[in-house]
Amino acid sequence: MLSLSAAADPLLQQVDQLIKDALTTSFPHLQEMVDHLLLAGGKKIRPLLVLLSGRVSGEQRNPSQRRSLVSVAAAVELIHTASLVHDDIIDRADRRRGQATLHSRWGNRSATLVGDFLLSRAFDLISDLEQNWNLLPLMSRSVMLLCRGEVLQLEKSYDYSISEQEYFRCNYLKTSQFLAACCEAGGRIGAAAPAHIRALREYGFNLGQAFQIVDDILDFKDDPEKLGKPVGADLDQGVMTLPLIYLARRQERFRLILEALKTRRMSLSPGLRESIRRAVRESGALEYSARRADQARRAALQALQVLPQTPARTRLSHIAEAIMARAGEVF
Ligand code: IPE
Ligand code: IPE
Ligand code: MG
Ligand code: MG
Repeated sequence: MLSLSAAADPLLQQVDQLIKDALTTSFPHLQEMVDHLLLAGGKKIRPLLVLLSGRVSGEQRNPSQRRSLVSVAAAVELIHTASLVHDDIIDRADRRRGQATLHSRWGNRSATLVGDFLLSRAFDLISDLEQNWNLLPLMSRSVMLLCRGEVLQLEKSYDYSISEQEYFRCNYLKTSQFLAACCEAGGRIGAAAPAHIRALREYGFNLGQAFQIVDDILDFKDDPEKLGKPVGADLDQGVMTLPLIYLARRQERFRLILEALKTRRMSLSPGLRESIRRAVRESGALEYSARRADQARRAALQALQVLPQTPARTRLSHIAEAIMARAGEVF
């Protein structure tokens, strides 16, 4: 199985170091919580996208551009981690990246502040860049869209009537627009041609779409150990992911159940939870979702065709394959 390590980048070590430096504080309590976060890293997809997109026009020999790529790669990982800290508070999730979530250990108030701290450190890194690639508006807009995605998702909680179009809107706001912005940021720093920056955005957008669908699929599979976060969390929170929309569209019984959950005439008992999860698995919803993710993967690879053939481009294509491989035996 192709793993993300096939796309790993030597600059990632510098990114990790910069994240550590950026999060060093003289407040012991804050440091303790930050250190907890630093213990478990994620997959680092977003920083990887910045670094690789920065090299699609060739290896970066200019030290200032290399430093900027590392800074922005660190910044996007900080923004992403902040969004996860806040997302876990909203979702009341107790595990993330294989360990206890911040709020489950230190409470919502402290965790909210740590998320804000990460966000402010991210924007400091972007403000301090040696050259202005106009990344501040790109990234602040991306965070704004991310918030809108989370609000839209809350609004549509247990809403069986949500259309696939609305689902894809949510997918875009929560995830794919951010991955597209990471690619665009790398492209700008690497002085890629405008047509190549457009191709990178297109790649990032489609990659992100596939990535979020695969994440939705994994929530219906029973492997919390491998995931490092709870399974079934989307259903618990009423998040209308693509597999659940597929089920609701085809089986009236589940439309009625979702409606009852929405209006709180019914609560999600362990038995009901299991029966919805089983119905999703048996309905073909996961296979359908995997096909939609695969379409997006192909579109992502197609977008890369415009770019010059460089090792960076090859590694971007590896990321697309590795993301699909995560969905495992669904295919
Ligand atoms: C989780 O992102 C949130 C989604 C957009 C699905 P990742 O799966 O990239 O999280 P980490 O950084 O690897 O933990
Ligand atoms: C989006 O995805 C997360 C953010 C935009 C913060 P999910 O809500 O699916 O993320 P997980 O599944 O909790 O990692
Ligand atoms: Mg979540
Ligand atoms: Mg998820």
